[in-house]
Amino acid sequence: MDPLMILVVDDEPLVLRSLICFFKSEGHDAHGAGTLAEAVEVIESVDLDLVLADVNLPDGTSFKLFEKIQGASPGPELVLMTGYGTIDDAVQAIKNGAADYVTKPLVDGELRMVIEKARRRRELRTENAALQSAACEEFDFNKIVANDPAMKEVLETAQAVADAQSTVLLTGESGTGKTLLARALHHNSNRCDGPFVEVACGALDDSLLESELFGHEAGSFTGAYKKRRGKFEEAHGGTIFLDEIATASPSMQAGLLRVIDDGCIERVGGTDTIRVDVRIILATNRDLAREVEAGRFREDLYYRINVLPIRLPALRERPDDIPALARHFVRAFARQANSDVQDLAPEAMNVLTAYHWPGNVRELEHIIERGVLLAEGDRIEMSDLSAEIVEETDSDRTAKVVPLKKAMEEPERRVILQALDRAGGNRDRAAELLGISRSTLFNKLGRLNINKAKARG
Ligand SMILES: Nc1ncnc2c1ncn2[C@@H]1O[C@H](COP(=O)(O)OP(=O)(O)O)[C@@H](O)[C@H]1O
Ligand SMILES: [Mg+2]
Repeated sequence: MDPLMILVVDDEPLVLRSLICFFKSEGHDAHGAGTLAEAVEVIESVDLDLVLADVNLPDGTSFKLFEKIQGASPGPELVLMTGYGTIDDAVQAIKNGAADYVTKPLVDGELRMVIEKARRRRELRTENAALQSAACEEFDFNKIVANDPAMKEVLETAQAVADAQSTVLLTGESGTGKTLLARALHHNSNRCDGPFVEVACGALDDSLLESELFGHEAGSFTGAYKKRRGKFEEAHGGTIFLDEIATASPSMQAGLLRVIDDGCIERVGGTDTIRVDVRIILATNRDLAREVEAGRFREDLYYRINVLPIRLPALRERPDDIPALARHFVRAFARQANSDVQDLAPEAMNVLTAYHWPGNVRELEHIIERGVLLAEGDRIEMSDLSAEIVEETDSDRTAKVVPLKKAMEEPERRVILQALDRAGGNRDRAAELLGISRSTLFNKLGRLNINKAKARG
């Protein structure tokens, strides 16, 4: 079971000791304090889940702890202990914001209920955080657009492995949908009620990342004032999504290898082993095999995480997805912006399908968002797309059609110049090589404005 961090505050040493003993025997991490001052010290240095405090302490009432706790975010649950029959104290406690109160003498069943409540609150907290960061996202596989066979195959694989316990490695260029797929995997697994915790490994420097993932003990490094639970502990019972895994430092790679091997972590600066039940999904936009070759990524770790690799094709590799995604985003943004835009003009769609999409789906999403805002009628025209994209795709597919005769001028010119060159400038010889009459060649030289100097004789 997931251990909680508990602080017991009581001035009776016997009560204190027996409560700490009880919590420890239940597998939790328990601290003790005999006075308000001591309690404040612990609250300030440990990341707590539950504070169980006697109302009356030698140096004041424990109501004072509320201020300390409310300042912390997310704060621990505060439960007060009152003597038998002192209902006034209890009422006062609840009015002051205590989550609950219990009357002494405490029985084990009651204590377990307190623990259970604190645990549920903590789960809600982590879930809320996860939900917030993913606000408005819908996680079903059928919300993922997949029209192209290449992408359909990816989704089939993902659906097949959603429920598996094994580690999944998502690879693909930036913006291909790795994060989206990771979320869908979690929400369609039997862990969907557990937390989904996302960590952008590239966003933090080495030492911070390690403590972010594995937590740390107080004082383990400069700035680590408080004991802190890491993302792995937070993800207990759910899924952890480690994005940009290629950037992980050697020591983090070692820690990862361990947690994958035996499901255990150690907080930075700590010696205790903590068991976590977490499904791991990783993502990278780099070629990990090459990172291994270059000595930047541990080979053993690579083999451990490359169990269920899923490669998201770049958008340019799945052209049939482009119109489907474009329309999907048109609908989504039109709804959001309360706009009448319903579709794209055929020429605009041609531009989109011809473009090479270095930023993949994310780039397409932005282009459509902008298009919906710029569109004047009920569809996005070519002029509503960014000039960059239109220029880039100024290829056969989208170029203005010119009269055939004009279009043929350039290749004709090239061949004639070649023949003249081969014939050393001799027009008769060149005409012969080209299989046309001398007069036809003369006409063409005039029409194509070919420098007379090139043609002698
Ligand atoms: N197949 C898809 N269907 C619908 N939306 C998609 C699809 N692929 C990507 N997206 C959207 O494109 C954006 C970029 O995807 P994301 O998962 O963040 O890419 P990555 O993590 O690979 O950089 C997100 O807003 C995501 O919701
Ligand atoms: Mg991502």
